[in-house]
Amino acid sequence: MRGVVLAGGTGSRLYPLTKITNKHLLPVYNKPMIYYPIEALVKAGIREIMLVTGGEYASDFARLLGDGREMGVKTLYYAYQEKPLGIAHALSLAEDFINGGKCVVFLGDNVIEGNIIPHVKRFAEQEKGAMVLLKEVPNPQDYGCPVFEGERIVRIIEKPKEPPSKYAVIGIYFYDADVFEIIKGLKPSERGELEITDVNNAYAERGLLTYDLLKGWWGDCGASIDAWLHINNLVAKTGANKIEL
Ligand code: G1P
Repeated sequence: MRGVVLAGGTGSRLYPLTKITNKHLLPVYNKPMIYYPIEALVKAGIREIMLVTGGEYASDFARLLGDGREMGVKTLYYAYQEKPLGIAHALSLAEDFINGGKCVVFLGDNVIEGNIIPHVKRFAEQEKGAMVLLKEVPNPQDYGCPVFEGERIVRIIEKPKEPPSKYAVIGIYFYDADVFEIIKGLKPSERGELEITDVNNAYAERGLLTYDLLKGWWGDCGASIDAWLHINNLVAKTGANKIEL
């Protein structure tokens, strides 16, 4: 399984910190934010990784990460997203890199306490489809939020006014090779982007979306300045990407 880390976007919710840099290059405690998703993948044995970024600070990622070997990456590939057209559009740039296999997609601003090893194993055994990770949160209205029928996710609603459940769909996604055909069929949302939630809903409609619950804390540093500050403090206190919880 290969890994894709998505680090594009404008980082508008962290403005003015993002006025002169990409959000994913900001510090989280003692390392740049982008280190955390890469380390999470490496610790789960995923060492062939593509980083997708865009905008005027893209070359700073190469200056920071180089060929990725210092972090344990076997080969670090880069793709450039010309315009911030959404998470699903950024993922579409990894089609040739994924080359018909399965992939795990990590949003570059997501940080976790634990590790994704059990989820990678589980998805490796899943015959086809997609898998998302869920975390119970006090504010599901700020994220993608799943609608359940019994034990099954039938739909995900992006930032719902009235959350249908107490869970957030976190920014770590597992896909089979069909994901790229699905993205080609998507229409831009109201904000003009190809949405990852629409990708997941296409799988849900086919009855091919499974999920796991994530252990340990999870944070989306890009959600707000307060979220970013909170995650800095969590990392300082307990550390991130721990093998055992
Ligand atoms: C994105 C997804 C959302 C998900 C979140 C996790 O939101 O659209 O479904 O819950 O990442 O970090 P964004 O942070 O781009 O608003």
